[in-house]
Amino acid sequence: MARCDALGVAPYSDMEGGLYRGYLAPAYTAAQVVLAGWMEEAGMTVRRDAAANLIGRYDGSTVDAPALLIGSHLDSVRDGGRYDGPLGIMLGIEAVSALHAAGRRRPYAIEVIAFGDEEGSRFPAAMLTSRAVAGTLAPDALDMADGAGVALADAGVDVSDYLSAARAPDSTLAYLEAHIEQGPLLEAEGLAVGTVTGIAAQLRYQLRVDGTAGHAGTSSMTLRRDALTGAAEMMLAIERIARADASDLVATVGRIEALPGAPNVIPGAVTFSIDVRSGDEARRDRAAGDILEAVAAIAEERGLHLTVERIHDLPASPCDRALMDLMDAALVEAGQPVRRLVSGAGHDAMVMAALCPTAMLFIRCKGGVSHNPAEHVDPADADIALRVMLGFIDRFGKTA
Ligand code: HGY
Ligand code: MN
Ligand code: MN
Repeated sequence: MARCDALGVAPYSDMEGGLYRGYLAPAYTAAQVVLAGWMEEAGMTVRRDAAANLIGRYDGSTVDAPALLIGSHLDSVRDGGRYDGPLGIMLGIEAVSALHAAGRRRPYAIEVIAFGDEEGSRFPAAMLTSRAVAGTLAPDALDMADGAGVALADAGVDVSDYLSAARAPDSTLAYLEAHIEQGPLLEAEGLAVGTVTGIAAQLRYQLRVDGTAGHAGTSSMTLRRDALTGAAEMMLAIERIARADASDLVATVGRIEALPGAPNVIPGAVTFSIDVRSGDEARRDRAAGDILEAVAAIAEERGLHLTVERIHDLPASPCDRALMDLMDAALVEAGQPVRRLVSGAGHDAMVMAALCPTAMLFIRCKGGVSHNPAEHVDPADADIALRVMLGFIDRFGKTA
């Protein structure tokens, strides 16, 4: 917990008075230096892969044995909390440190991996670096720039080598991610931890609405092609469609920009994001279809031009059944009630499922609050999570 807090401030944050650690930005690089030191202290050898992920390896009883990967992400959202991502990395380091202190080796290696870009908070697409490791990244996905126009190719990685971060499937046994629940269920039921059954499917779009910029003082209300009021009507339609489904479906407009952004100019163009999720992929796709149809009709009716770009499509990702049973057994051994729950939040685990079986352990967080500086975890719950992970590691060796 103290380590997560230490990384929550400058120079490990690029935001004044809060936490923002964007992929490959100065704070990210500074945090990797400290993290590498903690990994080495825990008995690991450390490397950065071609996607600039930081990876610590604790060898098994036989050299070159395949690895149990334990990880989460080092990047953050803007003005984020300190535990979304880093806590899963620190718990992985603590688990290895406990084995190392006891001089114990498992029949497999353990690699703690700190993914660089889970949030997509600097560049448009998310899960970039776990997709590189899982080998599911299309080469053209690297052709992008951040909000300041800095291309990934100019941000500190060699894009011609990037895809070599892909792991050989036979070099990995499973991926284990401990993460705060970012929801209210565990707290509501008085539970410290829970076994994750799977991760909701996620679609992300970037929309652009084009109207006509004009003089706020001279353009009559009936003759305007106002891109912002059109976008506003679209956003309310998106909310209405998601609410009407009365299910686990969620749809969010998280980022909007009105151009030129002057108080006395009718906005001529607006860009905004749409994030649509459900545990049921067909439900997600149906809702996305309804949403795109509704926003197109509003554009048509208002004489606005609409362009839609799909940024990513992350399928629903079930966790591995055998690993869920292992996690439940470790929960019981740690004196915790067994509780399984689905994740509405996306995680690198949903991408790693293409490479190897995945398991996730959720940890209670205060009020279910996350993506917010008020994010908080009780250290006692982090301690319980560590004990569960050590129990998982003990059991995993018997089946590997
Ligand atoms: O968006 C998500 O669900 C994750 O926090 N990146
Ligand atoms: Mn997050
Ligand atoms: Mn996260």
